[in-house]
Amino acid sequence: MLLKTLFSKVATGLGYFLIFGVALYALAYFLPGYQPGFLTNKPLGNLFWRTVFFTHVGLGAVALSLGPFQFSRQLRQRRVGLHRRLGKLYVFSILVASVAAFCAAWFASTGWVAAVGFAGLATAWFYTTFRAYRAIRQGQIRSHQEWMFRSYAATLSAVTLRIILPVELAVFHLPFSMAYPIVAWLCWIPNLVFVEWWLSRRNRANTAGVVWNG
Ligand code: HEM
Repeated sequence: MLLKTLFSKVATGLGYFLIFGVALYALAYFLPGYQPGFLTNKPLGNLFWRTVFFTHVGLGAVALSLGPFQFSRQLRQRRVGLHRRLGKLYVFSILVASVAAFCAAWFASTGWVAAVGFAGLATAWFYTTFRAYRAIRQGQIRSHQEWMFRSYAATLSAVTLRIILPVELAVFHLPFSMAYPIVAWLCWIPNLVFVEWWLSRRNRANTAGVVWNG
């Protein structure tokens, strides 16, 4: 029991570290003079690309950072007004960032396989978030919560991408031209499959009378 609690605390701490670490990493793009290697082969002179790229990076970082607060049961129960306001900011950020990411996808490094992967993710990001918002406007709390889990699983692709890509490059020694198109799909499909499995397990447990702390 003690080991289980310790494990869950370490896992939560690591999760927050990765979430806020990736959000800060993204926000670094707004520092004056910041020139990461990623930008070397990008169409920096193209105003359309610059607008959609930086819009998605900035608002993506906002959405990613809001997740831990929005899923906190304490915050939802004690500060429902704050949950609503941050929720609106989360939905707004994603609806705009996903359209921007969809546009940025067609400029992705390595070509069309990566482009279609990112465009698919952008579509799933928009759709799951829109469904979550529509559900709460219709007063369907359970459906809202389930769609928000799916939405955040898509948001977390920003984290999974930055775990999988270095593993592909450093452990499997894949060339970037192969690793990148693979990660453009692998960063989000397993997240959505996992959340479906987890939700169905939770629903089965609820039917059997076990109360979940969701
Ligand atoms: C979940 C939906 C998302 C989609 C569809 C998406 C799409 C993209 C695309 C198409 C690129 C450009 C890739 C290229 O040109 O090769 C990119 C890069 C980037 N994205 Fe996202 N993104 C998403 C979420 C996020 C989030 C939540 C963040 C915030 C943390 C984020 C931060 C970045 C950063 C910092 C880059 C620059 C690449 C790097 O430095 O690694 N993205 N994204």
